[in-house]
Amino acid sequence: MEKYKLNQRKPCKGIISVLIVLMVSACQPLANSEEDMDTGEYFKPEGHVMELKTKESFEIRNGRIIYIEHCAPCHGATGKGDGSYYASGLEPKPRNFADPEFAESVQDDYLFEVIWKGTAAFGKSPYCPPWGGTLKEEEKVRNIISFLRTLTLHAKPK
Ligand code: HEC
Repeated sequence: MEKYKLNQRKPCKGIISVLIVLMVSACQPLANSEEDMDTGEYFKPEGHVMELKTKESFEIRNGRIIYIEHCAPCHGATGKGDGSYYASGLEPKPRNFADPEFAESVQDDYLFEVIWKGTAAFGKSPYCPPWGGTLKEEEKVRNIISFLRTLTLHAKPK
């Protein structure tokens, strides 16, 4: 009798597990739905209107969302270094990411290091803090860099 009961319960457990997995995976696409991710478009830099019509990669969209939250207050929503703190007279000014000369002068690996460790670690001012501790995941910094590269679409690192 005991054995029979056990056998009866196993498939039931199996069905419940399958249902849980299905419910969880059904929620996934909702969390990443187009609507959720589209919020970043409000901050699309001027001059790149055409790009709105094309599908952006997840990396770029994610990068923009993180950028707007953590970097835009100083670097500005369009990356020109004119965020709200800019007016308060930071000297040197936050880097202008829309400047193709800057984009051409830096490799992604350098950008990663300077964002992760902060500008002071590279003999610059201490105004750009080390972001590694806040963002924690290297992928997030890589995503920001993908977004930064869209601000100067034609500039490639030399
Ligand atoms: C409190 C204001 C502030 C915030 C917030 C901020 N930055 Fe900066 N950032 C600066 C300033 C000021 C500089 C210029 C530092 C210098 O040249 O000494 C700078 C410079 C930089 C540079 C250029 C380094 C170089 O070699 O010239 C990068 C890249 C950068 N910031 C990335 C970021 C990213 C990514 C974020 C968000 C995760 C961010 N910053 C948030 C103020 C800020």
